[in-house]
Amino acid sequence: MSKKKPNSLSIATRAIHGNKLYPYKGPVSLPIYQTSTYRFESSEDAVRYAKGDESVLVYTRYHNPTVNEVEDRLAVIEGAEAATLFASGMAAISTAIFAAVKSGEEIISTPALYGGTYRFFRDELPKLNIAVKYVDPDNLGSLLKLITSKTRVVYFETPTNPTLNIVDIAELVRYTRQAEKKFGHSITIMIDNTFASILNQNPFAFGVDAILESATKYLGGHSDIMSGAVIGTKDFIKKVKHGMKYFGGCADPMAAYLLYRSLKTFELRVQRQNENAMALAKALEKNKRVSRVIYPGLPSHPKHKTARKQMSGFGGMVTIEVKPSKKLLPVEAAAKVCDSLRVAINAMSLGGVDTLVSIPVYSSHIFMSDEELEKHGVTPGMIRISVGVEGIDDLIADFEQALAVI
Ligand SMILES: Cc1ncc(COP(=O)(O)O)c(C=O)c1O
Repeated sequence: MSKKKPNSLSIATRAIHGNKLYPYKGPVSLPIYQTSTYRFESSEDAVRYAKGDESVLVYTRYHNPTVNEVEDRLAVIEGAEAATLFASGMAAISTAIFAAVKSGEEIISTPALYGGTYRFFRDELPKLNIAVKYVDPDNLGSLLKLITSKTRVVYFETPTNPTLNIVDIAELVRYTRQAEKKFGHSITIMIDNTFASILNQNPFAFGVDAILESATKYLGGHSDIMSGAVIGTKDFIKKVKHGMKYFGGCADPMAAYLLYRSLKTFELRVQRQNENAMALAKALEKNKRVSRVIYPGLPSHPKHKTARKQMSGFGGMVTIEVKPSKKLLPVEAAAKVCDSLRVAINAMSLGGVDTLVSIPVYSSHIFMSDEELEKHGVTPGMIRISVGVEGIDDLIADFEQALAVI
Protein backbone atom coordinates (compact mmCIF):
# COMPACT_ATOMS: atom_id res chain seq x y z
CA MET A 1 0.00 0.00 0.00
CA SER A 2 2.67 2.52 0.98
CA LYS A 3 4.44 1.94 -2.34
CA LYS A 4 1.39 2.93 -4.36
CA LYS A 5 1.66 6.16 -6.32
CA PRO A 6 -0.93 8.70 -5.05
CA ASN A 7 -2.71 8.72 -8.43
CA SER A 8 -3.54 5.00 -8.14
CA LEU A 9 -5.36 5.54 -4.84
CA SER A 10 -9.05 6.38 -4.52
CA ILE A 11 -10.18 10.00 -4.73
CA ALA A 12 -11.12 9.87 -1.02
CA THR A 13 -7.60 8.81 -0.03
CA ARG A 14 -5.97 11.31 -2.38
CA ALA A 15 -8.17 14.10 -1.05
CA ILE A 16 -7.26 13.27 2.55
CA HIS A 17 -3.53 12.57 2.16
CA GLY A 18 -2.40 14.12 -1.15
CA ASN A 19 1.30 13.35 -1.63
CA LYS A 20 1.86 13.10 2.10
CA LEU A 21 1.97 9.32 2.38
CA TYR A 22 4.33 7.23 4.54
CA PRO A 23 7.17 7.97 5.28
CA TYR A 24 6.10 11.64 5.31
CA LYS A 25 6.60 13.16 8.75
CA GLY A 26 5.17 16.44 9.96
CA PRO A 27 1.90 18.01 11.01
CA VAL A 28 -1.24 16.06 10.20
CA SER A 29 -3.01 19.30 9.40
CA LEU A 30 -1.68 21.98 7.09
CA PRO A 31 -0.02 25.07 8.64
CA ILE A 32 -1.44 28.38 7.44
CA TYR A 33 1.19 30.79 6.17
CA GLN A 34 -0.94 33.87 6.74
CA THR A 35 1.61 36.27 5.35
CA SER A 36 1.90 38.53 2.35
CA THR A 37 5.71 38.57 2.33
CA TYR A 38 8.82 36.66 3.47
CA ARG A 39 11.92 37.72 5.35
CA PHE A 40 15.11 37.33 3.29
CA GLU A 41 18.22 35.78 4.84
CA SER A 42 20.23 38.42 2.99
CA SER A 43 19.65 40.91 0.19
CA GLU A 44 21.17 38.36 -2.18
CA ASP A 45 17.90 36.37 -1.91
CA ALA A 46 16.06 38.97 -4.00
CA VAL A 47 18.64 38.56 -6.76
CA ARG A 48 18.50 34.76 -6.56
CA TYR A 49 14.71 34.89 -6.94
CA ALA A 50 14.94 37.29 -9.88
CA LYS A 51 17.34 34.86 -11.56
CA GLY A 52 14.86 31.99 -11.23
CA ASP A 53 15.69 30.27 -7.91
CA GLU A 54 12.26 28.96 -6.93
CA SER A 55 13.38 28.03 -3.42
CA VAL A 56 13.35 31.73 -2.47
CA LEU A 57 9.97 32.94 -1.24
CA VAL A 58 9.29 36.61 -1.91
CA TYR A 59 5.61 37.52 -2.07
CA THR A 60 2.31 35.67 -1.61
CA ARG A 61 0.87 36.74 -4.97
CA TYR A 62 3.70 34.67 -6.50
CA HIS A 63 3.77 31.74 -4.09
CA ASN A 64 2.66 30.71 -0.63
CA PRO A 65 3.40 27.34 1.03
CA THR A 66 -0.23 26.82 2.15
CA VAL A 67 -1.63 27.70 -1.26
CA ASN A 68 1.02 25.62 -3.05
CA GLU A 69 0.27 22.55 -0.92
CA VAL A 70 -3.43 22.82 -1.79
CA GLU A 71 -2.53 23.21 -5.47
CA ASP A 72 -0.45 20.03 -5.29
CA ARG A 73 -3.30 18.25 -3.57
CA LEU A 74 -5.79 19.32 -6.22
CA ALA A 75 -3.47 18.06 -8.95
CA VAL A 76 -3.22 14.70 -7.15
CA ILE A 77 -6.99 14.46 -6.68
CA GLU A 78 -7.73 15.33 -10.30
CA GLY A 79 -4.97 13.07 -11.67
CA ALA A 80 -3.08 15.92 -13.37
CA GLU A 81 0.48 17.19 -13.49
CA ALA A 82 -0.26 20.55 -11.89
CA ALA A 83 -2.91 22.95 -10.61
CA THR A 84 -3.13 26.56 -9.64
CA LEU A 85 -5.48 28.14 -7.18
CA PHE A 86 -7.33 31.43 -7.56
CA ALA A 87 -9.41 33.86 -5.54
CA SER A 88 -12.57 32.75 -7.39
CA GLY A 89 -13.82 30.60 -10.24
CA MET A 90 -14.08 33.64 -12.52
CA ALA A 91 -10.45 34.57 -11.78
CA ALA A 92 -9.48 31.03 -12.77
CA ILE A 93 -11.59 31.08 -15.95
CA SER A 94 -10.51 34.52 -17.19
CA THR A 95 -6.82 33.91 -16.45
CA ALA A 96 -6.89 30.51 -18.17
CA ILE A 97 -8.54 32.03 -21.25
CA PHE A 98 -5.90 34.77 -21.48
CA ALA A 99 -3.16 32.14 -21.12
CA ALA A 100 -4.42 30.44 -24.27
CA VAL A 101 -5.84 33.16 -26.55
CA LYS A 102 -4.66 36.56 -27.70
CA SER A 103 -6.08 39.38 -29.74
CA GLY A 104 -7.05 38.31 -33.25
CA GLU A 105 -7.64 34.68 -32.25
CA GLU A 106 -10.89 32.93 -31.41
CA ILE A 107 -12.70 30.59 -29.05
CA ILE A 108 -15.41 28.09 -29.85
CA SER A 109 -17.78 27.39 -26.99
CA THR A 110 -20.99 25.60 -26.25
CA PRO A 111 -23.63 28.29 -25.60
CA ALA A 112 -25.04 27.06 -22.29
CA LEU A 113 -22.52 28.40 -19.81
CA TYR A 114 -22.45 29.81 -16.31
CA GLY A 115 -23.90 33.34 -16.71
CA GLY A 116 -20.67 35.09 -15.66
CA THR A 117 -18.63 33.17 -18.22
CA TYR A 118 -21.24 33.76 -20.92
CA ARG A 119 -21.19 37.52 -20.30
CA PHE A 120 -17.37 37.56 -20.15
CA PHE A 121 -17.34 35.88 -23.58
CA ARG A 122 -20.15 38.04 -25.00
CA ASP A 123 -19.25 41.47 -23.61
CA GLU A 124 -15.56 41.54 -22.67
CA LEU A 125 -13.58 39.35 -25.07
CA PRO A 126 -14.83 41.10 -28.25
CA LYS A 127 -13.42 44.41 -26.85
CA LEU A 128 -10.00 42.74 -27.05
CA ASN A 129 -10.64 41.46 -30.55
CA ILE A 130 -11.10 37.88 -29.35
CA ALA A 131 -14.08 36.34 -31.11
CA VAL A 132 -16.31 33.69 -29.55
CA LYS A 133 -18.32 31.36 -31.81
CA TYR A 134 -20.88 28.91 -30.52
CA VAL A 135 -21.29 25.25 -31.40
CA ASP A 136 -24.57 23.42 -31.06
CA PRO A 137 -23.89 20.74 -28.40
CA ASP A 138 -26.29 18.40 -30.22
CA ASN A 139 -24.31 18.76 -33.46
CA LEU A 140 -20.67 18.63 -32.43
CA GLY A 141 -19.70 17.56 -35.96
CA SER A 142 -20.14 21.21 -36.91
CA LEU A 143 -16.89 21.90 -35.01
CA LEU A 144 -15.17 20.76 -38.20
CA LYS A 145 -16.66 23.77 -40.00
CA LEU A 146 -16.42 26.26 -37.12
CA ILE A 147 -12.77 25.67 -36.22
CA THR A 148 -10.43 27.85 -38.27
CA SER A 149 -6.73 28.66 -38.30
CA LYS A 150 -7.51 31.31 -35.63
CA THR A 151 -9.15 28.94 -33.12
CA ARG A 152 -7.07 28.44 -29.98
CA VAL A 153 -9.63 27.21 -27.43
CA VAL A 154 -12.64 24.92 -27.45
CA TYR A 155 -14.57 25.60 -24.25
CA PHE A 156 -17.53 23.80 -22.71
CA GLU A 157 -19.50 22.85 -19.62
CA THR A 158 -21.34 19.62 -18.94
CA PRO A 159 -23.82 19.24 -17.31
CA THR A 160 -24.86 22.72 -18.37
CA ASN A 161 -26.33 25.42 -16.17
CA PRO A 162 -29.25 25.39 -15.42
CA THR A 163 -30.79 23.04 -18.00
CA LEU A 164 -28.44 20.14 -17.15
CA ASN A 165 -27.92 19.25 -20.78
CA ILE A 166 -25.12 16.76 -21.37
CA VAL A 167 -22.34 17.45 -23.89
CA ASP A 168 -20.66 14.30 -25.23
CA ILE A 169 -17.04 14.87 -24.09
CA ALA A 170 -15.50 12.11 -26.23
CA GLU A 171 -17.17 13.47 -29.38
CA LEU A 172 -16.16 17.04 -28.67
CA VAL A 173 -12.54 15.95 -28.21
CA ARG A 174 -12.62 13.74 -31.33
CA TYR A 175 -13.88 16.50 -33.65
CA THR A 176 -11.53 19.10 -32.14
CA ARG A 177 -8.50 16.87 -32.64
CA GLN A 178 -9.60 16.12 -36.20
CA ALA A 179 -9.75 19.86 -36.97
CA GLU A 180 -6.47 20.44 -35.16
CA LYS A 181 -4.73 18.03 -37.56
CA LYS A 182 -6.17 19.91 -40.52
CA PHE A 183 -4.79 23.26 -39.34
CA GLY A 184 -1.58 21.95 -37.76
CA HIS A 185 -1.71 24.04 -34.59
CA SER A 186 -2.77 23.03 -31.13
CA ILE A 187 -6.15 23.85 -29.62
CA THR A 188 -6.62 23.82 -25.86
CA ILE A 189 -9.79 22.01 -24.89
CA MET A 190 -11.09 23.46 -21.62
CA ILE A 191 -13.99 22.27 -19.52
CA ASP A 192 -15.60 24.03 -16.60
CA ASN A 193 -16.14 20.90 -14.50
CA THR A 194 -17.78 22.73 -11.58
CA PHE A 195 -21.23 21.11 -11.87
CA ALA A 196 -20.06 17.48 -11.93
CA SER A 197 -16.77 17.73 -9.99
CA ILE A 198 -13.95 15.26 -10.51
CA LEU A 199 -15.69 12.65 -8.37
CA ASN A 200 -18.48 12.27 -10.90
CA GLN A 201 -16.71 13.09 -14.13
CA ASN A 202 -13.07 12.84 -15.16
CA PRO A 203 -12.65 14.86 -18.38
CA PHE A 204 -8.92 14.06 -18.56
CA ALA A 205 -9.86 10.43 -19.26
CA PHE A 206 -11.47 11.68 -22.50
CA GLY A 207 -8.52 13.82 -23.58
CA VAL A 208 -9.56 17.27 -22.34
CA ASP A 209 -6.50 19.50 -21.77
CA ALA A 210 -7.52 21.67 -18.85
CA ILE A 211 -10.15 21.57 -16.13
CA LEU A 212 -11.39 24.87 -14.73
CA GLU A 213 -13.42 24.89 -11.62
CA SER A 214 -15.19 27.21 -9.24
CA ALA A 215 -13.86 25.69 -6.00
CA THR A 216 -16.44 27.91 -4.28
CA LYS A 217 -18.86 25.07 -5.10
CA TYR A 218 -18.34 21.30 -4.59
CA LEU A 219 -14.63 21.39 -3.76
CA GLY A 220 -15.17 24.01 -1.04
CA GLY A 221 -18.54 22.49 -0.27
CA HIS A 222 -19.69 24.65 2.66
CA SER A 223 -20.77 27.95 1.01
CA ASP A 224 -18.12 29.75 3.06
CA ILE A 225 -15.21 30.46 0.69
CA MET A 226 -14.56 31.92 -2.74
CA SER A 227 -12.00 29.93 -4.70
CA GLY A 228 -11.16 28.72 -8.18
CA ALA A 229 -8.72 26.37 -9.83
CA VAL A 230 -7.13 25.55 -13.15
CA ILE A 231 -5.81 22.02 -13.49
CA GLY A 232 -3.73 20.63 -16.36
CA THR A 233 -0.24 20.02 -17.69
CA LYS A 234 2.85 21.60 -16.09
CA ASP A 235 3.41 23.66 -19.24
CA PHE A 236 -0.10 25.09 -19.34
CA ILE A 237 -0.19 25.77 -15.59
CA LYS A 238 3.12 27.62 -15.88
CA LYS A 239 1.50 29.97 -18.41
CA VAL A 240 -1.59 30.37 -16.23
CA LYS A 241 0.52 31.16 -13.14
CA HIS A 242 2.42 33.74 -15.14
CA GLY A 243 -0.86 35.46 -16.03
CA MET A 244 -2.09 35.24 -12.46
CA LYS A 245 0.87 37.32 -11.28
CA TYR A 246 -0.36 40.24 -13.40
CA PHE A 247 -4.12 39.82 -13.31
CA GLY A 248 -3.69 39.33 -9.57
CA GLY A 249 -6.40 36.77 -8.78
CA CYS A 250 -4.21 34.79 -6.38
CA ALA A 251 -5.71 32.66 -3.62
CA ASP A 252 -5.70 33.86 -0.05
CA PRO A 253 -3.89 31.45 2.35
CA MET A 254 -6.87 31.24 4.74
CA ALA A 255 -9.29 30.37 1.93
CA ALA A 256 -6.75 27.82 0.65
CA TYR A 257 -6.64 26.26 4.12
CA LEU A 258 -10.43 26.05 4.31
CA LEU A 259 -10.46 24.43 0.89
CA TYR A 260 -7.83 21.92 2.07
CA ARG A 261 -10.03 21.12 5.08
CA SER A 262 -13.08 20.68 2.84
CA LEU A 263 -11.25 18.36 0.48
CA LYS A 264 -10.92 15.83 3.29
CA THR A 265 -14.68 15.20 3.14
CA PHE A 266 -15.07 15.82 -0.61
CA GLU A 267 -15.97 12.23 -1.50
CA LEU A 268 -18.33 11.76 1.45
CA ARG A 269 -20.18 14.98 0.74
CA VAL A 270 -20.53 14.56 -3.01
CA GLN A 271 -21.58 10.92 -2.74
CA ARG A 272 -24.36 11.94 -0.35
CA GLN A 273 -25.32 14.82 -2.65
CA ASN A 274 -25.55 12.36 -5.57
CA GLU A 275 -27.82 10.08 -3.53
CA ASN A 276 -30.00 12.90 -2.20
CA ALA A 277 -30.36 14.48 -5.66
CA MET A 278 -31.43 11.19 -7.23
CA ALA A 279 -34.01 10.55 -4.46
CA LEU A 280 -35.36 14.11 -4.62
CA ALA A 281 -35.54 14.04 -8.44
CA LYS A 282 -37.53 10.79 -8.31
CA ALA A 283 -39.90 12.19 -5.69
CA LEU A 284 -40.43 15.42 -7.65
CA GLU A 285 -41.15 13.47 -10.85
CA LYS A 286 -44.26 12.16 -9.08
CA ASN A 287 -45.39 15.60 -7.89
CA LYS A 288 -48.46 16.93 -9.76
CA ARG A 289 -47.30 20.55 -9.49
CA VAL A 290 -44.04 19.85 -11.30
CA SER A 291 -44.23 19.67 -15.08
CA ARG A 292 -40.61 18.65 -15.70
CA VAL A 293 -37.71 17.29 -13.68
CA ILE A 294 -34.30 17.49 -15.29
CA TYR A 295 -31.64 15.24 -13.74
CA PRO A 296 -29.02 13.39 -15.78
CA GLY A 297 -29.44 10.32 -13.58
CA LEU A 298 -33.10 9.85 -14.51
CA PRO A 299 -33.91 7.57 -17.46
CA SER A 300 -36.30 10.34 -18.60
CA HIS A 301 -33.34 12.68 -19.24
CA PRO A 302 -32.87 12.91 -23.04
CA LYS A 303 -29.10 12.39 -22.71
CA HIS A 304 -29.19 9.82 -19.94
CA LYS A 305 -27.20 7.35 -22.07
CA THR A 306 -24.39 9.85 -22.67
CA ALA A 307 -24.43 10.81 -18.99
CA ARG A 308 -23.98 7.15 -18.04
CA LYS A 309 -21.07 6.87 -20.46
CA GLN A 310 -19.11 9.78 -19.04
CA MET A 311 -20.29 10.24 -15.46
CA SER A 312 -19.75 7.89 -12.54
CA GLY A 313 -22.31 9.79 -10.44
CA PHE A 314 -24.92 12.31 -11.61
CA GLY A 315 -24.23 15.16 -9.20
CA GLY A 316 -26.28 17.25 -6.83
CA MET A 317 -27.96 19.60 -9.32
CA VAL A 318 -31.65 19.08 -10.15
CA THR A 319 -33.73 21.51 -12.20
CA ILE A 320 -37.51 21.52 -12.11
CA GLU A 321 -40.20 23.43 -13.94
CA VAL A 322 -43.31 24.24 -12.00
CA LYS A 323 -46.66 23.63 -13.69
CA PRO A 324 -48.32 26.82 -14.94
CA SER A 325 -51.56 27.66 -13.15
CA LYS A 326 -54.45 30.03 -13.91
CA LYS A 327 -53.66 32.11 -10.81
CA LEU A 328 -49.92 32.64 -11.26
CA LEU A 329 -47.46 33.33 -14.04
CA PRO A 330 -44.76 30.62 -14.22
CA VAL A 331 -42.11 32.87 -12.65
CA GLU A 332 -44.51 33.90 -9.87
CA ALA A 333 -45.23 30.24 -9.14
CA ALA A 334 -41.48 29.45 -9.06
CA ALA A 335 -40.89 32.39 -6.70
CA LYS A 336 -43.74 31.30 -4.42
CA VAL A 337 -42.28 27.81 -4.13
CA CYS A 338 -38.79 29.15 -3.37
CA ASP A 339 -40.17 31.57 -0.78
CA SER A 340 -42.13 28.78 0.92
CA LEU A 341 -39.21 26.40 1.47
CA ARG A 342 -38.18 26.02 5.10
CA VAL A 343 -35.19 23.62 4.95
CA ALA A 344 -33.80 24.48 1.52
CA ILE A 345 -32.43 28.02 1.29
CA ASN A 346 -33.37 30.57 -1.37
CA ALA A 347 -29.84 31.69 -2.27
CA MET A 348 -27.47 31.86 -5.22
CA SER A 349 -24.55 29.44 -5.64
CA LEU A 350 -24.38 25.68 -5.41
CA GLY A 351 -22.40 22.65 -4.35
CA GLY A 352 -22.45 23.13 -0.58
CA VAL A 353 -23.81 20.93 2.20
CA ASP A 354 -26.89 23.19 2.53
CA THR A 355 -29.56 22.73 -0.13
CA LEU A 356 -29.97 25.95 -2.13
CA VAL A 357 -32.54 26.99 -4.72
CA SER A 358 -32.52 29.75 -7.29
CA ILE A 359 -34.66 30.94 -10.17
CA PRO A 360 -32.42 31.24 -13.25
CA VAL A 361 -34.43 34.06 -14.88
CA TYR A 362 -34.05 36.06 -11.67
CA SER A 363 -30.38 35.24 -11.10
CA SER A 364 -27.77 33.71 -13.44
CA HIS A 365 -29.81 34.50 -16.58
CA ILE A 366 -31.38 37.81 -15.57
CA PHE A 367 -29.64 39.94 -18.19
CA MET A 368 -30.40 37.68 -21.13
CA SER A 369 -32.83 38.62 -23.87
CA ASP A 370 -35.89 36.43 -24.53
CA GLU A 371 -34.12 35.16 -27.63
CA GLU A 372 -31.02 34.18 -25.64
CA LEU A 373 -33.16 32.50 -22.97
CA GLU A 374 -34.92 30.48 -25.63
CA LYS A 375 -31.60 29.48 -27.19
CA HIS A 376 -30.39 28.36 -23.75
CA GLY A 377 -33.64 26.48 -23.04
CA VAL A 378 -34.23 28.53 -19.87
CA THR A 379 -37.87 29.07 -18.97
CA PRO A 380 -39.47 31.41 -16.38
CA GLY A 381 -40.92 28.56 -14.31
CA MET A 382 -37.55 26.89 -13.72
CA ILE A 383 -36.09 26.34 -10.27
CA ARG A 384 -32.51 25.15 -9.98
CA ILE A 385 -31.88 23.04 -6.91
CA SER A 386 -28.42 22.41 -5.52
CA VAL A 387 -29.07 19.43 -3.30
CA GLY A 388 -27.13 19.31 -0.04
CA VAL A 389 -26.52 16.58 2.52
CA GLU A 390 -29.57 17.05 4.79
CA GLY A 391 -31.79 14.09 5.65
CA ILE A 392 -33.54 13.17 2.41
CA ASP A 393 -36.98 12.71 4.02
CA ASP A 394 -36.79 16.27 5.34
CA LEU A 395 -35.87 17.60 1.91
CA ILE A 396 -38.65 15.74 0.11
CA ALA A 397 -41.21 16.89 2.70
CA ASP A 398 -39.96 20.48 2.40
CA PHE A 399 -40.37 20.58 -1.39
CA GLU A 400 -43.77 18.88 -1.17
CA GLN A 401 -45.11 21.45 1.29
CA ALA A 402 -43.68 24.37 -0.75
CA LEU A 403 -45.15 23.03 -4.01
CA ALA A 404 -48.53 22.58 -2.31
CA VAL A 405 -48.70 26.39 -1.92
CA ILE A 406 -49.15 27.03 -5.67
C1 LIG B 1 -20.37 26.53 -13.42
C2 LIG B 1 -19.73 27.72 -12.78
N1 LIG B 1 -18.54 28.13 -13.21
C3 LIG B 1 -17.92 29.21 -12.68
C4 LIG B 1 -18.52 29.96 -11.71
C5 LIG B 1 -17.82 31.18 -11.17
O1 LIG B 1 -17.23 30.87 -9.94
P1 LIG B 1 -16.99 31.95 -8.77
O2 LIG B 1 -18.32 32.44 -8.33
O3 LIG B 1 -16.24 31.16 -7.75
O4 LIG B 1 -16.16 33.05 -9.38
C6 LIG B 1 -19.77 29.58 -11.21
C7 LIG B 1 -20.44 30.39 -10.16
O5 LIG B 1 -21.60 30.23 -9.87
C8 LIG B 1 -20.39 28.43 -11.77
O6 LIG B 1 -21.61 28.04 -11.38
